[in-house]
Amino acid sequence: MVTGPKFDEIGYWSEVKLAIVREDASAYSTILSRQPGLHYVYIDGFAGAGVHVRKVTGGFVLGSPLNAVRIRPPFREFFLVDLDGDKVDHLAKLVGRRRDIHVLHGDCNTVLLQDVFPRVRWEDYRRGLCLLDPYGLDLQWRVIEAAGRLRSIDLFLNFPIMDANRNALWRDAQKVRPEQAARFTAYWGDESWREVLYRPKAQLGLFGEEREKVENEAIAEAFRARLRDVAGFANVPAPMPMRNAQGAVVYYLFFASQKDVANTIVVDIFAKHGARRA
Ligand SMILES: C[S@@+](CC[C@H](N)C(=O)[O-])C[C@H]1O[C@@H](n2cnc3c(N)ncnc32)[C@H](O)[C@@H]1O
Repeated sequence: MVTGPKFDEIGYWSEVKLAIVREDASAYSTILSRQPGLHYVYIDGFAGAGVHVRKVTGGFVLGSPLNAVRIRPPFREFFLVDLDGDKVDHLAKLVGRRRDIHVLHGDCNTVLLQDVFPRVRWEDYRRGLCLLDPYGLDLQWRVIEAAGRLRSIDLFLNFPIMDANRNALWRDAQKVRPEQAARFTAYWGDESWREVLYRPKAQLGLFGEEREKVENEAIAEAFRARLRDVAGFANVPAPMPMRNAQGAVVYYLFFASQKDVANTIVVDIFAKHGARRA
């Protein structure tokens, strides 16, 4: 029996994400290739199987790691991580045996910190473009913070607002299961969200001060501030809301970088794709 990964079925907004990252990666590689001796790499923490299935047509769509591998001029090295062994095997077959491509099986919250980021140090004249694109709250803040501290990494980041709202950011914060609150804390980085994302109600309740959850946009704005102020990224443009077929925001696509020029490029790409309609 032939086994293999179960391919993800993707819709319009996933293809928008793929196009955004592909266009930026292309600009990034073009610019950095002009700096002699600079070793710049592509990192995909939640890489997937390398291809997806387009929901509407059933046809195959290249995933983010294969898009990156096809970019010219090429990145000098690739680090592609996934937790799902079948997907890793499939991706490894697609890219073939190449010294410049490392397909790594494991939890990127560990693999990136232990095996990848130490190979992208600013002082070694290395730079990286990194995509962190989990399904939900599977990413840990310590990875984001480490990327910021390195100063060598430009980051695309999926902030999964729908998973957060469904499981952790309930209107009645008291009813949230502790393990779901812990998942959100691991993504957010500390417990400050309990204060920042629940503001005092304008009118006092029967039992004194009551708090209410802030809107999605305010949650995204507070996370943006953390990327700047806590992780130390100099530039974090307003994120792009990515939706499902019903128009609800599933996640915010963030970009974080130390470089003004990288910021300008992504602001243009976000504006172009934000103006498109499903
Ligand atoms: C949204 S998909 C990635 C899609 C890919 N970035 C693309 O656009 O082609 C998320 C992937 O993360 C993987 N995954 C989930 N938890 C993970 C973890 N802790 N570390 C690494 N990969 C993980 C899943 O197996 C899945 O392939």
